[in-house]
Amino acid sequence: MPVSPRGLAGAVAAAGALSSPYWLPKALITLRGKVFEKVNGPEGVTVPGGPVGPERFAELYAHPAADGRSKGAGLSDLFWYWLSPGPEVHQEHLEPGPRYEAVARTTAAVLAGRSADLSAAAARCAARVLDERVTGGAALLRLRDLMMPVWAEFFYELVFRGPCPPHARALIVANAEDVVDSLKNTRLRHMRRRERLTAFLLGKLAAGEVPHALPAELATPLERAHYLQGTFFNTAVVQMSEAMAHLLLALAQHQDVQRRVAARPDDDRYLGNVMNETLRMYPLFGIAHRITSADIDLGDGVGYPAGTVLCFDYPAYHATGYDHPEVFDPDRWELLSAKDAHHIPFGVAANRPCPAWRLAPLVMRAVTREVLRRFTLHSSVSHTRPIPHRAPCLLVARDRPLPRRRTTAVLAGMRIRDRWEDVGRSLLQLVLGTVMVLHARRLRPARTWFAAHDTQGRPLDALAPEARPDPRGRGPAPGGCPYRGR
Ligand code: HEM
Repeated sequence: MPVSPRGLAGAVAAAGALSSPYWLPKALITLRGKVFEKVNGPEGVTVPGGPVGPERFAELYAHPAADGRSKGAGLSDLFWYWLSPGPEVHQEHLEPGPRYEAVARTTAAVLAGRSADLSAAAARCAARVLDERVTGGAALLRLRDLMMPVWAEFFYELVFRGPCPPHARALIVANAEDVVDSLKNTRLRHMRRRERLTAFLLGKLAAGEVPHALPAELATPLERAHYLQGTFFNTAVVQMSEAMAHLLLALAQHQDVQRRVAARPDDDRYLGNVMNETLRMYPLFGIAHRITSADIDLGDGVGYPAGTVLCFDYPAYHATGYDHPEVFDPDRWELLSAKDAHHIPFGVAANRPCPAWRLAPLVMRAVTREVLRRFTLHSSVSHTRPIPHRAPCLLVARDRPLPRRRTTAVLAGMRIRDRWEDVGRSLLQLVLGTVMVLHARRLRPARTWFAAHDTQGRPLDALAPEARPDPRGRGPAPGGCPYRGR
C-alpha cells in the first residue's frame, strides 16, 4: 500500500518522539556545553590533551607554578556564583598565602579525630536517618536525598561537638541541596535559602558555641560564618552525599559485588577496592582548574606562559591506563596500587588535595555497612558522573525480601520513568544553565572581588600604592575551561 508524504512525516515524527529518551538528553547536554563555551569565551588548556598526555598529567598538576586558584579564570566566576555566599573565603577558592594556610590548618583540625570515633559517629548518624526514612519493608527513594541528612548531622557534630537539632539539619540540607542542584543546573539558586543558614551560623558564633579556634585572618563574624558554611555545610555535605549516592548506586547495579560486601562487612580491602573503582569511574570533579603564576617549562618544547588557565580533566585522566576502563571492575584494584595508577579522586598530593582524603573513605565505609546491614539495594537507572537524577533506588529490608516478580516489575517501571525524566530534565538544565551562566557573567563575582582586593583579601584602596598589584600584570586571562560541573 503506498504511503502518503503526510503519513511518512507523521511516522518519522512519532518515531523521533518515541525514541527521544535515547538521543535527546545527549544532544541537549552537548548543546548546553556549546552554549556555556560561547558565553564564557575561548577555552583554557585542557589536560590531558595536546602536548601533555596522561603520562605527564600529574607532573603538570603538581608543578609549583600551577598554583593560582581563582584570579584570572572565567570559570572562577561560575564557581563563585554557585558556591555563594562567601566564595571569597572558601578554602577551595583562596589564593596561596597566609590566609589560605590559616584556613587550611583550621579545616584539617576540624576534620581530625580518632578513626574509631569518626566511624562510630558516621554509623550513628546513618542509623538515625535510616530508621526515620525507611519505615516499611521496602522503599523507593533517591540515594542522594537519603544521604544528605546523614552528612548534615555528621558535619554538625564535627563542627559544634554536639548533637544536630532538627531545625539545624533542615537548614543545612536546604543549603546543600540548593548548591548542588544549581551546580547541576536542575534548579536556579535561591540565596534566601542559603542566607538562612548563614544567619544561624552567625547566631552560633555570637553565642560562643563554636568550640574550634577559627582563623584570625578571617576578621569578621560574617567571614567566619561563610567559611564554616562553605567548607562544612556546603562542600563537605554535598561531596559526601554525591560520593555515597555513586557508591550505593554502583552496589545496587552490581548484585554480585553487593553480595560480597554484605557477606564480609569487615573486609576493608574489598570495600576499598569498590570505592576506588566507583570514584575512578565517577570522580566527583569533572574539571579542577589552576591559573599559572609563572611560566612553566616542562622541557621538550612544552611550556605554558604565566596566566594560563589549566583545566585538569578528571574523567579523561581516569579513563586512561586501564584495561577496559568502561567496565566497573573492583577486582582490578587487587593488582593495582591507587598510588601508581591514574587515580586522583581526592586530587594531587602536591597541589591542594582534598583535606578529607583520609576521613572520607573511613566514614563512607561505616555508612555503607550500616545501609547494607539492613537493606538490599536495587536500581535500573542510568549511572553517569553528574548523576542529576539523585540515584533512584529500591531498598528492601533484609528480613522481609520481596517476591522476585515484584522487584522485576518495580525495576522495569523505574527504568522507563528514568528515561523520560531524563528528557524533561535535560531540557530544564539547558534553560536553567543558560540563565545562571548569563547571570554569573553579569555579576562576575570573582572578577569584581579581585578588582577591589589583593590575593590576601585586603582592600586595594587600604594598601600603600607601591603594595598594590601592577594593573598591567596578570589580569583576568581570557576564557575558562569547558564547564564539566562537579
Ligand atoms: C568522597 C568525598 C570527596 C571527594 C571525592 C573530594 C574530592 C576533592 C578533590 C578532587 C579536590 C581537589 C580539587 C583541586 O585540585 O582543585 C578537593 C578539594 C577540596 N575538598 Fe574535597 N572531596 C570529598 C569530600 C570532602 C569533604 C568531606 C570536605 C570537608 C571539608 C572537602 C573539602 C574540600 C576542600 C576545602 C577542598 C579544597 C582544598 C584546597 O584547595 O586546599 N571535601 N576535594
